[in-house]
Amino acid sequence: THIDWDIEAASKNGFDHFMMKEIYDQPSAIHETLARRLDSNKMIQLDDIKLSKQEFEQIQKVYIVACGTAYHAGLVGKYAIEKLAHVPVTVDIASEFRYSDPFIDGNTLLIAVSQSGETADTLAAVREAKRKGARVLAITNVVGSSVARESHDVFYTWAGPEIAVASTKAYTAQLIAFYMLALHFARIKDTIAYNDYREKVEQIEKLTPAVEEILSRKETVKEIAQTLLEAKSAFYLGRGLDYMSAMEAALKLKEISYMHTEAFAAGELKHGTIALIEEGIPVLAIVTQDRLAEKMISNMKEVKARGAYVIAIAKEGIEHIHEVADKVIELPKAPDLFMPILSVVPSQLLAYYVSTLKNNDVDKPRNLAKSVTVE
Ligand code: G6P
Repeated sequence: THIDWDIEAASKNGFDHFMMKEIYDQPSAIHETLARRLDSNKMIQLDDIKLSKQEFEQIQKVYIVACGTAYHAGLVGKYAIEKLAHVPVTVDIASEFRYSDPFIDGNTLLIAVSQSGETADTLAAVREAKRKGARVLAITNVVGSSVARESHDVFYTWAGPEIAVASTKAYTAQLIAFYMLALHFARIKDTIAYNDYREKVEQIEKLTPAVEEILSRKETVKEIAQTLLEAKSAFYLGRGLDYMSAMEAALKLKEISYMHTEAFAAGELKHGTIALIEEGIPVLAIVTQDRLAEKMISNMKEVKARGAYVIAIAKEGIEHIHEVADKVIELPKAPDLFMPILSVVPSQLLAYYVSTLKNNDVDKPRNLAKSVTVE
């Protein structure tokens, strides 16, 4: 009806689709998730998490379980927690975890990540972990959701309602949640110096204007999207954290463009994927990790020599990037650990533009649901 249309248009905030509105909600989602938990000294206060210092000290390992985009956030989360808090972390897809007889006991912390808090497999993983005596912490966007209610502790991402099926702002807010948890755990475990902690909090704060800067250059991404419309498949490549970002980027593009996309760890190219590279195939290379940039450049050369059309999503100042890539989408500089927040934004925009230029239903892609509440 007329009224429904008006309400829907209003909630899109002037954007044509929820997905673009939600991509633009990210600076505020990042800011809210962080700022609401910083005290006047800029120390992270996780009042909603009851896990005490003593209890945390007993944690010997962490499992992260989730599905889809939330699983990709978990992969970055593992990296952050291991690096800052020095605890071993295993990440698993919830539907695999629940049937794998996971090695869990009272010294295990399970972190369940779910935007909706209603995904059947993630909820089942929470129940299984609790049955085995683990402490369960949820990262979710929906207050009072099933995963939130059944977990011992909850970290709410303050992203606001996410309507588009393809997750965007929930993902960046989940990454912020993981960075904050990792810093918090590191403080408790004394694996981080006070100054380093303070500096990292400030670096996270600076991601908000950096995301705004990327959004202001979205026309460049739209032009690149035009060049992908005829392609049947596209590959994303990355190393380290960029491989995690490549997985999320590939999922985004596949969900709403219906192209065949895959992410590869660039070092694995020679072990199979390179056989698929032929004239004109788009290869998107994510290059944000300083110590791995040189390796990425040589992988890009390898696919380029076999005819690939190479698009780089790269941190500013990477040497030789303009020589090896046909197109470069530049990202503002941030410390390597936090670059996944920035590299995902152009890949969301790219997926959005390819989908809308193909006249697909970008907010409600075929065959997919926002929340999978049955197995
Ligand atoms: C569905 C959605 C994805 C989402 C996944 C997990 O597949 O289409 O966007 O990442 O479920 O959802 P959750 O609500 O548990 O994060």
